[in-house]
Amino acid sequence: MCKFLIACLLLPVAVSSALKEDKAYWATQTQIELDEALKLTRNENRAKNVILFVGDGMGPNTITAARIFKGNGNEQTKLTFDEFPHIGLLKTYCADKQVPDSASTATALFCGVKGNYHTAGVDANVPEGDCQASQNPEYWVPSIIQWAQDAGKDTGFVTTTRVTHATPSALYAHSPDRNWECEAKLPSSAQGCKDIARQLIENEPGKNIKVIMGGGRQCLVSNATGDASDPLDIWACQSKDGRNLIKAWQQDKQSRNFSSAYLKTNEDLWNVDVAKTDFVLGIFANGHLGYENEHIDRRPTGMPTLKNMTSVAIQLLKKNPKGFLLVVEGGLIDFAHHRGVAKHALYETVAMDDAIAAALNLTTQDSDTLIIVTSDHSHGLSMTGYPKRGADILGLAGTSKMDHTPYTTLSYTTGDNDSFKFSVTEEGTIVRDDPTKEAFSSFDYHQHTGILTDEVLHGGSDVAVYAKGPMAHLFHSVHEQTYVAHVIAYAAKIGPYSSASSFYSFSATAIVLFSFFVFYILC
Ligand SMILES: *[C@@H]1O[C@H](CO)[C@@H](O)[C@H](O)[C@H]1NC(C)=O
Ligand SMILES: *[C@@H]1O[C@H](CO)[C@@H](O)[C@H](O)[C@H]1NC(C)=O
Ligand SMILES: *[C@@H]1O[C@H](CO)[C@@H](O)[C@H](O)[C@H]1NC(C)=O
Ligand SMILES: *[C@@H]1O[C@H](CO)[C@@H](O)[C@H](O)[C@H]1NC(C)=O
Ligand SMILES: *[C@@H]1O[C@H](CO)[C@@H](O)[C@H](O)[C@H]1NC(C)=O
Ligand SMILES: [Zn+2]
Repeated sequence: MCKFLIACLLLPVAVSSALKEDKAYWATQTQIELDEALKLTRNENRAKNVILFVGDGMGPNTITAARIFKGNGNEQTKLTFDEFPHIGLLKTYCADKQVPDSASTATALFCGVKGNYHTAGVDANVPEGDCQASQNPEYWVPSIIQWAQDAGKDTGFVTTTRVTHATPSALYAHSPDRNWECEAKLPSSAQGCKDIARQLIENEPGKNIKVIMGGGRQCLVSNATGDASDPLDIWACQSKDGRNLIKAWQQDKQSRNFSSAYLKTNEDLWNVDVAKTDFVLGIFANGHLGYENEHIDRRPTGMPTLKNMTSVAIQLLKKNPKGFLLVVEGGLIDFAHHRGVAKHALYETVAMDDAIAAALNLTTQDSDTLIIVTSDHSHGLSMTGYPKRGADILGLAGTSKMDHTPYTTLSYTTGDNDSFKFSVTEEGTIVRDDPTKEAFSSFDYHQHTGILTDEVLHGGSDVAVYAKGPMAHLFHSVHEQTYVAHVIAYAAKIGPYSSASSFYSFSATAIVLFSFFVFYILC
């Protein structure tokens, strides 16, 4: 009886969903999609504002899985950036490796030049860890932040990692080693090299960045103390030299007669006086910020969401009539993947998608704001097997025909011993653990890997780039990653495409034409 009842309740659902996707359905769906495509026009406005979102380690597999995750199994769900009109692919290899790290790819994205693995803001002349080579200004590469500041725009960056971490560092520093975030990681051989935190606070363009938000207090202030809700990161640099770069930042703004605010908590962020504040330094953690899901109950004393940091950053930067450039990094997508915890990575991806939605709301892409969403590199996540339509993306895809053990849809190509789940039977056979013996769809679950490494390693696939707003159509093909910096510069008329440079090229053309004219008259 009970069985019968359930069948009756489920039958209409099954039938209607089967009917839903017949040929009429696809004819309509596809017509809608085609009509949208036929309506596309080029937006050749000048990008007064540019917002660049970087999902760290957000390769194509992560995006597919995050979309299904957001839709609770519905593959037709759209992420906010799925609806952007223009996309392309980026080749992410760096100067010396096929599979890159975040510092070298940030240099490509932000400075338009491919550097060596683990180096930031320098070209391929600087080998990893070579302090002396990195001190040669000939090898330094300026970033989109420098170009935007030179054009009188306000600049900012927001990240869920330390503000001195690999990705943001390429915006403002020139370093042969991404780990040199503070003095404690500089080897004694690194004579004369300035750590990344000092470059951010003391040098240009770092000291002129209007909005800086993220974690990393332990690199800015010596002997920072941690607690359970905001632990020190023992793997990253911890300053000991007596510095207080937060105070130095405040003093610098004071001495230049700017109003400034140092934010420590979520509540500080809520209370920023947007109209009256020129510079904002938000340092919300000793290390990276916590995973988004662990802070659902965002206490006033806790850490903010990426969405809220992004919203406040845009409101602050929007005040400049000449426009702004903002970079937003969803940095914990990569962090979660390295640890082999896919649910966190997907949650962080959706959190960045929320930040993108907020950015769309606060700007106008039709007229003046170019929004780009991309990634620095792919990751070792794999989506495989043949899970049923509507399945939980964190669930089981099937059972192996070989070892008769279930496997999850998501797994990792490489991973540490938390993911390398095999045991040896009494007969000496190696068997893969049964995922159903663990809570396989929980945040803490480590998906399986077959190759034991020290952590999940990056992937080398192309990454997608999505764009909306002025000049977004320039993303249309398979591009070098360095192309992103150039499209930004071209769309905003900054850096190599600034009005100054085009004025000079215009003058040069005028002089040539005038000479021809004079020559013609005289002859
Ligand atoms: C920081 O701690 C180190 C020992 O780890 C100590 O030598 C140093 O004096 C401390 N510095 C400050 C500014 O407290
Ligand atoms: C800052 O303001 C003070 C008082 O108004 C003035 O004396 C000083 O020259 C100003 N400094 C700068 C760098 O503009
Ligand atoms: C985000 O900011 C808004 C106000 O700007 C606040 O109401 C909301 O609680 C914040 N959300 C979180 C999760 O902190
Ligand atoms: C965007 O703005 C609309 C209307 O003001 C609002 O309903 C929506 O929640 C906003 N979305 C985001 C992501 O802020
Ligand atoms: C996993 O590896 C770490 C070192 O990376 C080691 O300390 C730990 O004992 C290992 N755990 C197991 C279960 O093998
Ligand atoms: Zn990484």
